[in-house]
Amino acid sequence: MTSDDLLARHRAVLPSWMPLYYSEPIELVSGSGRRVTDAQGRTYLDFFGGVLTSMVGYDIPEIRDAVERQLRTGIVHSSTLYLIRQQVELAEKVARVSGIPDARVFFANSGTEANEAALLFATNHRRSAQILAVRNSYHGRSYATMGVTGNRGWSASALNPLQVAWLHSGERLRGLLARLSESERVDAAVEDLREVLATQTAGDVACLIAEPIQGVGGFVHPPDGLFAAWKKVLDEHGILFVSDEVQTGWGRTGEHFWGYQAHGVTPDLLTFAKGIGNGFALAGVVGRAEVLESVPAISFCTFGGNPVSTAAGNAVLDYLLDHDLQGNAARTGAILADGLRAAVGGLDRVAEVRGKGLMLGVEFVRPGTTEPDPALTVRVLEACKAGGLLVGKGGLYGNVLRMGPPLTLTEDEAREGLAILVDAIRSSAAAEVAA
Ligand SMILES: Cc1ncc(COP(=O)(O)O)c(C=O)c1O
Repeated sequence: MTSDDLLARHRAVLPSWMPLYYSEPIELVSGSGRRVTDAQGRTYLDFFGGVLTSMVGYDIPEIRDAVERQLRTGIVHSSTLYLIRQQVELAEKVARVSGIPDARVFFANSGTEANEAALLFATNHRRSAQILAVRNSYHGRSYATMGVTGNRGWSASALNPLQVAWLHSGERLRGLLARLSESERVDAAVEDLREVLATQTAGDVACLIAEPIQGVGGFVHPPDGLFAAWKKVLDEHGILFVSDEVQTGWGRTGEHFWGYQAHGVTPDLLTFAKGIGNGFALAGVVGRAEVLESVPAISFCTFGGNPVSTAAGNAVLDYLLDHDLQGNAARTGAILADGLRAAVGGLDRVAEVRGKGLMLGVEFVRPGTTEPDPALTVRVLEACKAGGLLVGKGGLYGNVLRMGPPLTLTEDEAREGLAILVDAIRSSAAAEVAA
């Protein structure tokens, strides 16, 4: 079976709105560490990890062994009607590392479900369906999570069970707050929050949901401290704060274990998904007991936190902590960020190299403007692939290259990937000038 056959079969049977990367899409057939091999036998260094999900890397013995041990018991599934040892253990660990006092944990299968659950808890606790969300956000593909998604390209329906009012993200490059200093942006975003509360809500809002670094949004992030400044205002009204850590959690940002910690604030609810299962379907919400307890009916998730996914989750979290992958993300992320800034940060096609730890973006624009250049972004993506490196793209305008490698990335691999990236960016930008 060739990849071409598979592509035709894919197109014949799967919906077209599920995009495939590359003019010649690839099928990954094996992986080890930070490298994956496609059906043609080409090996790539992986800087995207299946959208920041293969967080520890491929074929990690400790994780494989934990999953195989669980499989050998014969119990793949039992339902949450019975005690699940792996689930209780993982909940204890997640509660402990969450930074939230007296926390409870609810497990689900995806980031969408986790955010949907957080919105359920917050709206029930506050007896209000009013939500504050942030422009350029992404929170999932259910009606409520699409409803709090501030990105037209990722919101497939206007049907929304919630009443949503929108805040400025505090981003530096575009919009009304662009070009302000960091502290001015914080002040302006807080003023915006007060004005939105006074003009677009009845005051008794359930929660504000925000990503510390906007993932799909192109790794845009506000100045450190904005969430704390927002929370002061939220606290005046009893409004809850939900941190969507689906991409930013577990030490990826290097400087902290959670993205929210850059802001000196503790969320009421925190949602997680993607990396904690290292590919196994595992997600959840951790938060204040009284908020999680405000569900007025049975709420049951058949697969949520099942014995196999939580066996994986326990092994991932243990590995992460035992090997200080947060420290590694800080070290290897700095090699990438410093190297990119030095080599391509000055190009007139690069508006910004941004992000934290191993969550780094490069935004491409038309020369000397802030006009997005998605075409150049696609060319760089293809050039990286030709050079043996998988990266992602995103941003409201599809003009941001996104890097989110496994947190086990070595310093040599960081330098190897950096060289491919720099070459791909320079050659793609130069080819366009010559054309
Ligand atoms: C910040 C954030 N929240 C929620 C989601 C939705 O997660 P899932 O695709 O697992 O439903 C994503 C997915 O990319 C995400 O990046």
